[in-house]
Amino acid sequence: MASMRRLEGKVAFITGAARGQGRAEAVRLADEGASIVALDSCATAATVAYPGPTAADLDQTAAEVRAVGGEVVTGVADVCDLQGLQKVWDDGVAAFGAIEVVVANAGISSANWLWETSEEQWEETLAINLTGVFHTMKVAAPAMIRQARGGSIIAISSTAGLKGVPYLGAYSASKHGVVGLVRTLANELAEHQIRVNSVHPSAVDGTGMDVVDMHALVARGPEHLRARFSNPLPGPTSAQPSDIAATVAWLASDDARFITGAQIPVDLGTMAR
Ligand SMILES: NC(=O)c1ccc[n+]([C@@H]2O[C@H](COP(=O)([O-])OP(=O)(O)OC[C@H]3O[C@@H](n4cnc5c(N)ncnc54)[C@H](O)[C@@H]3O)[C@@H](O)[C@H]2O)c1
Repeated sequence: MASMRRLEGKVAFITGAARGQGRAEAVRLADEGASIVALDSCATAATVAYPGPTAADLDQTAAEVRAVGGEVVTGVADVCDLQGLQKVWDDGVAAFGAIEVVVANAGISSANWLWETSEEQWEETLAINLTGVFHTMKVAAPAMIRQARGGSIIAISSTAGLKGVPYLGAYSASKHGVVGLVRTLANELAEHQIRVNSVHPSAVDGTGMDVVDMHALVARGPEHLRARFSNPLPGPTSAQPSDIAATVAWLASDDARFITGAQIPVDLGTMAR
């Protein structure tokens, strides 16, 4: 685990923290000294091919944070629900004080040819992946400005937020949208010493987001599209949640104090293809 305590005394608010990358980020940031406010909807989205986590999964995240010596508050809320999100934020502030690190990680994924993407699939993907990040920023930014302690906001986008990934049209549109939010807010918050960056994983193991419909489409698709999914780095084809969490911890820390408005890939080199 972490060999550094770069986040001692800080409080981190993480969405989508019941499992996968969100859980790894909660544990890593706690291991570096942060207190954690962990939010998740603990629900299954209507248009995805995999089950969502339960409240027990969010409790497991809390247990793993405590196991590394961290303090944690959990909250069940949907990032589409601005008031629900605000309440979990307020509960976190009541428990720990000012929140200086925000990880907008909650997201869903489903796959289809763009022209076969249903209205429901489009709307739910944009609502959670893009409006959810907007809501997170809308709650976080004014509070962080008022606190006047600076901070770091990190949005988990995807390599599909930097290039067109076949079969992920709605997802790719939502994740490109996240880059627009990040670049805008980085400009708006710089004078308050609040940095805003995005992280762009390609494939990540051990998360709920193992998109079965995606694998089927890739296997069936033409060779020239299959080639889009290969990585320069040999070995595993996916990163681990802990790899993304390590990048998030770095961006949250003063080691990244001059980095804002940036898009950081953690992608085994696939952006270079
Ligand atoms: N898994 C991958 O290969 C991969 C690759 C690139 C980017 N990402 C991105 O990483 C982030 C984390 O995903 P993951 O891989 O850990 O998958 P995951 O499904 O394990 O975790 C996502 C979490 O977000 C939560 N969530 C979903 N909708 C929500 C809502 N409306 N309100 C609150 N919480 C909600 C889920 O309940 C879940 O706990 C997502 O933004 C995803 O798009 C994942």
